[in-house]
Parts: sequence; structure tokens; C-alpha cells
Amino acid sequence: MTDPTPFNKKLQGKVAIITGGASGIGEATARLFADHGARAVVVADIQDELGRGVAESIGLHRCRYIHCDVTDEQQIKAMVESTVKMFGQLDIMFSNAGVMSMGDQTILELDLSASDKVFAVNARGMAACVKHAARAMVEGGVKGSIVCTASVAATVGNDKFTDYIMSKHAVLGLVRSARKVAIITGGASGIGEATARVFSEHGARAIIIADIQDELGQNLASSIGSHFCTFIHCDVTNEDQVKSMVEWTVQKYGQLDIMFSNAGIVNRSDQTVLDLEFSAFDRLFAVNVRGMAACVKHAARAMVDRGVKGCIVCTASVAGSHGMGRRTDYCMSKHAVVGLVRSASKQLGEHGIRVNCVSPHGIATPMMCKALEMEADEVEKVYEARTRLKGVLRARHVADAVLFLASDQSAFVTGHDLSVDGGFST
Ligand SMILES: NC(=O)c1ccc[n+]([C@@H]2O[C@H](COP(=O)([O-])OP(=O)(O)OC[C@H]3O[C@@H](n4cnc5c(N)ncnc54)[C@H](O)[C@@H]3O)[C@@H](O)[C@H]2O)c1
Repeated sequence: MTDPTPFNKKLQGKVAIITGGASGIGEATARLFADHGARAVVVADIQDELGRGVAESIGLHRCRYIHCDVTDEQQIKAMVESTVKMFGQLDIMFSNAGVMSMGDQTILELDLSASDKVFAVNARGMAACVKHAARAMVEGGVKGSIVCTASVAATVGNDKFTDYIMSKHAVLGLVRSARKVAIITGGASGIGEATARVFSEHGARAIIIADIQDELGQNLASSIGSHFCTFIHCDVTNEDQVKSMVEWTVQKYGQLDIMFSNAGIVNRSDQTVLDLEFSAFDRLFAVNVRGMAACVKHAARAMVDRGVKGCIVCTASVAGSHGMGRRTDYCMSKHAVVGLVRSASKQLGEHGIRVNCVSPHGIATPMMCKALEMEADEVEKVYEARTRLKGVLRARHVADAVLFLASDQSAFVTGHDLSVDGGFST
């Protein structure tokens, strides 16, 4: 064992769990963590004799062995809980347990019951360890670290070991999506709500729903999961509220990766340019234009300050690229959003921050039903008749487009206005 100087004690005071810690990479890491001053190292494995041996040789005053089969979520939960109970917190999860394929399988010979076993450990087990460690960290207010063991097999294909390769690609997907912290303005309803659900399905680390509809927003946050989804009352017309909502997010989660600036309203009055009514016009601009700009400004500042190459997505509309026979104020406001996105994408490109917008056609959200004074099915019929693709445009379709723009799948896309309109604009 090395005898590090105090300068090498990089993990002083830290509490770490290492799954698959009884042998190989896990065992070596347990020893290194202990050498570097970790206060406690929990070796979690199914090889009891080996695991106990590792703990004893490191020293039982700071290393414990816990039997934990990562294919059993309850065992992981209990192992994380007992770590926190014994040592007060969890700082590091090294999720490392994994198995190799049973045979040299190509896709043609893939034995699905054998691959289920590989996936149960390498993908499902990995996700369960990340989930329970992250929960313990969020609940304990710990700015922790989670490291997973993937493989070179996570980035390249191979003519054999298909299930192993797939499972390690899945680990990379877990790590990539688990990083993201997202704010969604206007997140309590409609497109914002659908996007919050899609982000949660795709493993976002934290979702902040910023809206003025407190009850709806709070209920949504708890239905998604209050350990990682939070409602914050934020009126986007008030720059101070936007600023403090962004600051709160960065303080709590360490960074902001995604701003989906989506809050918007439509006036009920059918304003042509001849009868523009400026108090309604000003209210609409305060939300759709000024509020949108404030969200982009403060999100961008938080990203630049922390060196985060984040994504900003705004909700524009097909009304942002077409004239309208009425609703002049709304049409102008959405053109302004596209202008904001184009300018901000130029200005923020040097920081690696991407800025894009989605432009939906009509969807039967509460905003649209109220504006048209129709039930949802009537609104759907109105818009269905105007699109080229058959079927009904739903908030979920827009949410999927936002996910694309907010994810690494669109890594080189910026300044783009993505129509989600079933071919209406073409
Ligand atoms: N539904 C459509 O047909 C359609 C089409 C194109 C674009 N859009 C745009 O989509 C966005 C979302 O609208 P939706 O259709 O989901 O409607 P929605 O009414 O369901 O959602 C809008 C949300 O914005 C919130 N909001 C309004 N003013 C706010 C403020 N000052 N501060 C914070 N939050 C505020 C509302 O409380 C609501 O939860 C809007 O920008 C809208 O202009 C909608």
C-alpha cells in the first residue's frame, strides 16, 4: 500500500460506495480511495468472502463490506440507506459492478434470456445505483460525485458480445442524461408540462418548473417526483424573480444545463392592426418577449459564469414566421422570439451555448382552448384540418422536439427554428 503525503489526500472526509468492490477495478479503487483519505469506503458486492477480505485488509474502522446484489433494487436502497445512517452522508458512488456476456454472440445468435441477465446487472443495476445514490445526495444536500464503469465497448460496435456492447452503451446514455439540470418556464401546463415529463423519462438530474400557477405546478412536481422535480413560483415578467429562480437552481444543483423558456400567453381579443389595444398588447409583450429575453439572459449568464456548454430552447410558434389575419400582437411577439434566438445563438456560440426554438402549430392546451373558447376536441378538429400529416398535434410531439434540441443529439445545431406543425408551414 502506498503511503501518501497529506497533499495526496484528495478524498479527505469523503464517504464512498463501490459496487463490485470485492475484486478487480472495484477492489483497486477501494484501496486507492482509502489511501487518499476517504473517511469511509463501503464495498458492495455479492462475493462475500472476497469482499470481507478487502474490508479487513483496508481496515474495518473505515471500510465495511455489505452484501448487495445490484439486480435487486431493494438491496441497493437498503445499502445506500445504511451507509448514510452509519456515516451521515454519501459523497461518492462508484457504480462499477458488471458482468461479461456468456457467449460470443452476434445479433443472429443472441440468446435473449442470457442478455436479460447481462442487462439486469450492467444497465438496470447501474441505473438503480445511480438513482439511490443521487436521491441520498439530493436529500442530504450533498454536492456528490457519481462515477460509473462503462467500457470502450460503450463507444464502438463489435462483431461479437452484442448484449455486453449494448449494455455499456446504455451506461453511457445513463451518465449523459443524468447530468442535466433543466428549468422549464410555463412548466405547469400544456407544452411545458409535457416537456417536464419527457425530461424526467430521459433521466434529467433535476427539473425546475417555473410558473405562476402554484397549485398546478406543485402537483406536477410531486407527480414527477419531488426528490428531483421542484416547483418555483416565478413570474417571467419580473426580472428579479427570473434572476433569483436561476440563482436558486445553480446554488442547489451546482449548474444549469438547459433552459426551456416556454411561458407564453395569447390575448382573447382578435386584434387586427386597426384595432390594436395597447394595454393588452403590453401585457402580452411583457410575457412573450420581455419575459422570454429575461429567461435567456439569466440562463446564459449562469452558463457562462460556470463554463457550462448548455442549451437554451425557446417556444416560438408558426406565428413567428407567418403573418396572421388577426392576433397581430401574438404574431409580432413570436417573430421577436425568433429574432432573440437568432441573435443569442450568434452571441453565445463562442461559449459553446446553443440557442434554438420550437415552433408548434395549434395544440389543444389550456391556453388555446381558452383563447378559442372551445373544448379540446373542437380545437383539435380545427387544427387537424390544416396540417399535411394525418392526425392530431399534441404537446408531447413538441416535448420530443425540445428533448432533441436540449440533448447531445443536436450537438451542432444552433440558431434553428424547428417547426413542429405536421407540414403546415411547408
Ligand atoms: N398551444 C398552441 O397551440 C401553441 C402553438 C404555438 C406556440 N405555443 C406557445 O407554447 C407556449 C406554451 O403554451 P401552451 O400552449 O402550453 O399553453 P398553457 O397555457 O398550457 O401553458 C402556458 C404556461 O405559461 C404560464 N405562464 C403564463 N404567464 C406566465 C408568466 N408571466 N410567468 C410564468 N409563467 C407564465 C402559464 O401559467 C401556463 O402554465 C407558449 O409560449 C405559447 O405561445 C402554443
